[in-house]
Amino acid sequence: MAATNCSLKPYNTFGIDVQAKAFDRFSNLEELSACINTYKGLELLIVGGGSNILFTKDFDGVVLKNELKGFEVLSETDTTVIVQAGAGENWHEFVLKCIDLGYAGIENMSLIPGSVGASPMQNIGAYGVEIKDVFHSLKAYHIASGEIHTFDAAACEFGYRESVFKRALKGQYVIISVAFQLSKIAAINKNYGAIESQLESMGISQPSIKDISNAVIAIRSSKLPDPKTLGNAGSFFKNPVVDQQLVDRILENHPEAPNYPAETGKRKLAAGWLIEQTGWKGKTIGTCGVHTLQALVLVNYGGSTGQQIYDLSSQIIASVKEKFGVTLEREVNIL
Ligand code: FAD
Ligand code: EPU
Repeated sequence: MAATNCSLKPYNTFGIDVQAKAFDRFSNLEELSACINTYKGLELLIVGGGSNILFTKDFDGVVLKNELKGFEVLSETDTTVIVQAGAGENWHEFVLKCIDLGYAGIENMSLIPGSVGASPMQNIGAYGVEIKDVFHSLKAYHIASGEIHTFDAAACEFGYRESVFKRALKGQYVIISVAFQLSKIAAINKNYGAIESQLESMGISQPSIKDISNAVIAIRSSKLPDPKTLGNAGSFFKNPVVDQQLVDRILENHPEAPNYPAETGKRKLAAGWLIEQTGWKGKTIGTCGVHTLQALVLVNYGGSTGQQIYDLSSQIIASVKEKFGVTLEREVNIL
């Protein structure tokens, strides 16, 4: 169903009402290829669930909604299984399906909105697990040549909320399927933050992967706004990775500041804590604001423009820089 001058409001979880010059969908490779040919010359944007995008202006190009479905076991042993899902599958439904089949490894990432195909884009993660920990490979359509290329984990160059598809190969590929290596033996990962106490409050001492999923769903639902009722794109910023010396300086005045080990001797600070300390948590500016329960999440109370939300994020970056000397980086894709 192609359309011109189409509102993108239903296609982004911030609920920003901008227009795309053209909009189309594809649910198989022939349709994808036909779309690429039809709209040659126009700027191209692939969307899945639109849950990690902020539109700050009309999109002067074509938006293609990925509806590639599919679920397939590629191979299995007594203890492991490689499952492949179409990029347009809903991530959370895929997680639930794997749990039902007894395939362990992604239950900690329950309830992350969006599509399977976007999951490698920023190496999604939650509650102690990232895509890179269970990733097997992905297939992607090379826009310039129409060829299908396969990427293993090394080729994806995963980092914290990063991959090669956000950097060197940005805009060059459409991810069409992703394969994950999961385990038939549940290795329960309940070390992260509130999972253990949530399980306790549920009266569970020997959790199954379904219990872990339910605990994660309960924790997430208690502090993250549901995009169906309040426009948002999850964490608006990344947790900053900084030198130990900067952490030490912050700890002098704020010994309680949350910080965790990060790559190559660096430390990760909690952006939500930094933002809360600058007084922004729960603040509203016009029709947008900072969520009352999680300062990392910016929200659209209704009718906000993407530019207003972007401007709010710039003010927050300036406040955190001034108070702590830390530069926050936006996690959400700005368009
Ligand atoms: P979209 O927003 O549609 O797209 C994101 C980017 O990927 C865009 O640049 C788009 O062009 C590109 N893209 C999408 N699909 C493809 C494809 N098939 N091929 C090529 N490029 C593509 N993220 C986390 O990591 N952890 C969390 O815990 C988490 N919690 C969230 C909670 C809430 C309430 C919300 C709203 C968001 C949260 N997110 C989280 C962010 C978001 O859910 C993820 O980034 C998710 O993977 C985005 O999927 P999507 O299909 O909506 O991507
Ligand atoms: N904190 C505050 N105030 C706040 C928010 C958080 O002080 O308003 C403190 C918490 O008390 C805690 C620390 O910051 O000590 C970390 O908070 P939390 O466990 O809620 O996680 P987060 O670091 O804020 C990250 C991810 C989330 C992911 C959760 C759970 C990023 C940018 N965000 O949030 O991912 O779901 O951990 O693993 O890494 C997303 O990417 O969109 C996202 C929601």
